[in-house]
Amino acid sequence: MVNYGSRMSLVGPPPPATTNPMKRLWLDVRHERRVPDPYPPGDTNFSLARARAMVRDPLSVLLGAYERYGPVFTLRVFHERVVFVLGPEANHHVLVSNARNFLWREGHFRELLPLLGDGLLTIDGDFHRRSRRIVLPAFHHERIAAAAELIVEEAQAALARWEDGARLDLYAWTRRVALRIAMRALFGLDPDKQRDLDAAAEFQHALDFYGNDYWMQVARGPGSPFARMLRARAKLDALVFGEITRRRRTGERGEDILSLLLDAEDEDGSRLSDKHVRDQVMTLLFAGHDTTTATVAFMVYELAANREWADRVAAEGARVLGDRPPDAQTLMAGGLPELDLVLDETLRLYPPAWIGPRRSVAPFELCGVRVPGDVPVEYCSWASHRLPDVWDQPHAFRPERFLPEARATLPRGAYVPFGGGSRTCIGMRFGQLEIKVIASLLLREFRLELEPGWRLRIRQTPTIGPRGGMPVRVRRVRSPVGA
Ligand code: HEM
Repeated sequence: MVNYGSRMSLVGPPPPATTNPMKRLWLDVRHERRVPDPYPPGDTNFSLARARAMVRDPLSVLLGAYERYGPVFTLRVFHERVVFVLGPEANHHVLVSNARNFLWREGHFRELLPLLGDGLLTIDGDFHRRSRRIVLPAFHHERIAAAAELIVEEAQAALARWEDGARLDLYAWTRRVALRIAMRALFGLDPDKQRDLDAAAEFQHALDFYGNDYWMQVARGPGSPFARMLRARAKLDALVFGEITRRRRTGERGEDILSLLLDAEDEDGSRLSDKHVRDQVMTLLFAGHDTTTATVAFMVYELAANREWADRVAAEGARVLGDRPPDAQTLMAGGLPELDLVLDETLRLYPPAWIGPRRSVAPFELCGVRVPGDVPVEYCSWASHRLPDVWDQPHAFRPERFLPEARATLPRGAYVPFGGGSRTCIGMRFGQLEIKVIASLLLREFRLELEPGWRLRIRQTPTIGPRGGMPVRVRRVRSPVGA
């Protein structure tokens, strides 16, 4: 097994991993030469064009390879051969039936280590299970329902600033709202107290790093994208460590994840270090706002092009909620079914957490193809959701494909926007609620039009989002809900 200095301890936090890109490149190349078994067929010559295309337009690259090689294939991406596995059977294999044969930390999510550290996304084994157990109570149904009022309050306050005829970047707007919600609901952090810190902008700067071509990502030194990412990280760290120190000093606790993390104790009485609390907080702040931000933007994009569905969702909101703001009971119990269909279809076409990088432990067989052990293996919801032999008109926005009777015909593993198995997205219900609150308010009060001539181009952060933001023109169609 390739060792980046990050081998996971079964009982405690993992030792620090190297973030030296040259050392990692060298280890990868050396290791690849030693893999005894053949890789699945694919495009394995060194190609800068392919490496670039995997950053700029991975969907086309993966769908093209699927057509040529089938659901299991190898692509050399920059310096390394990666096995991609697509489609229902592959997703089920990696996420559920053989999940134990795949490690997260040794996969390409290791690129997130410099920003996120050892949070839920980058750890395995008992340390992962223990960490997940600590934060899970914060995602129980009643705790999420309790956050609904706060989400409505934040969304209403942000929408109240929109003026009829205004032009704005919907993606940046949503990032601000979603980050404020995550800070308050998950961590009891008051964003208004952080006057000298624009946390949303700093996250955006930090995440911009992952949209660079690979050779830019390995560059180091002053002025490099990596240095810019570290500067943004330092500002976010000051916020998180500041709150950890304050809570430890004052003993103040609340109904939030930070309190759960600070008080968590092992059987032997040991506590998580400040560094590990920070890593979990940073991971949840990142995962908790970036995905929802992208989903709201993609939903608005599709609804701007599919006015019939925008009108249906707005009419449904007015019919069911009247002049009331959305509430947890209605949203979580399927009380706005048309909005649910639109959300499901948006997440099919643009699953923000589009790729699931892993490393195989032992060799395995999938769809009749042998794959070696100890190699990078990635499932991809985005490409899986666009396969022509699984989805009718895969690139078309057709929310009705998620009506119960149609949904029931989907093969197991076909639709995986939140992953699956024991590591399914922990924030799924929270994220769905948040997106539906924002969409329900926004679509009842406003009609959004995309700036004429603007074309959607997608970039990675490492989730997917609209490159350069999403410029929209705002038209108010009714007075504020609940006013
Ligand atoms: C539309 C919203 C969201 C989508 C589509 C989404 C998607 C995903 C996916 C696909 C995974 C698994 C990745 C893999 O298999 O490699 C995941 C994991 C995770 N998500 Fe989400 N997510 C969303 C919202 C959230 C929110 C709101 C939070 C936190 C508040 C969150 C926190 C996490 C965490 C911590 C993990 C890692 C879980 C673990 O490994 O135990 N996500 N998410």
